[in-house]
Amino acid sequence: MQLIKTKDKLEGSLKGLEIIKEDIQAGKVNTLGLATGSTPETFYAELIKSDVDTSKITTVNLDEYVGLAADDLNSYHYYMNELLFSKKTFKESFLPNGMAEDADTECAHYETILSKHPVDIQILGIGTNGHIGFNEPGTAFDSLTHKVLLTESTREANKRYFEREEDVPTHAYSMGIKSIMNAKKIILFAFGKSKAEAIKETINGTIDVNCPASILQNHPDVTIIVDEEAGSLL
Ligand code: F6R
Repeated sequence: MQLIKTKDKLEGSLKGLEIIKEDIQAGKVNTLGLATGSTPETFYAELIKSDVDTSKITTVNLDEYVGLAADDLNSYHYYMNELLFSKKTFKESFLPNGMAEDADTECAHYETILSKHPVDIQILGIGTNGHIGFNEPGTAFDSLTHKVLLTESTREANKRYFEREEDVPTHAYSMGIKSIMNAKKIILFAFGKSKAEAIKETINGTIDVNCPASILQNHPDVTIIVDEEAGSLL
């Protein structure tokens, strides 16, 4: 694991962009794995401003809420369109379909997409409980794309985006931990004090399903980019 300590979110996002830019310019990136949430917002804004040509790159996102349509303001489809896809050209982009009729079929379908588009670089954020994607503590390390019951802490953390607490979905589709670990390179961003404990466990803790991100210790090419606050317990 490589750890990069930066001053703040902007410096960290620019550092991540530099790494990705180098790989893209070296022709090493056909597929980029993307995340949502507040963590990658600055990274996306800087990617849009940059001269990096993404027009030949396919994107695959980590997750989507079950029951939210692509045009729902709170869906991850909507987030990605608003923050990135409407402003920067990609070859094609995939997210799980939150409105799929059958969960098992949708999960198998998403895994087929991932096998056709193996991820060269996966961007990750991290939950305060150490989740990656929506793989909550206790998720098997060999999990593939699956339907997840969101924990109370994750629903609590995400309710800021919803008008009413009861509108926060109870389930999501998420790439599994094994699906994430299949990426050739992983860049995990963590910004802010609320992530400090999870980052400490991820880097210095034992590899344990109670901190899903701790499995990243076993990945051959992971870079963790933190700001001062998220790295404060290291
Ligand atoms: C989002 C995702 C989640 C978030 C995590 C942190 O696609 O996969 O694992 O990265 O919940 O969320 P923020 O960035 O909002 O703190």
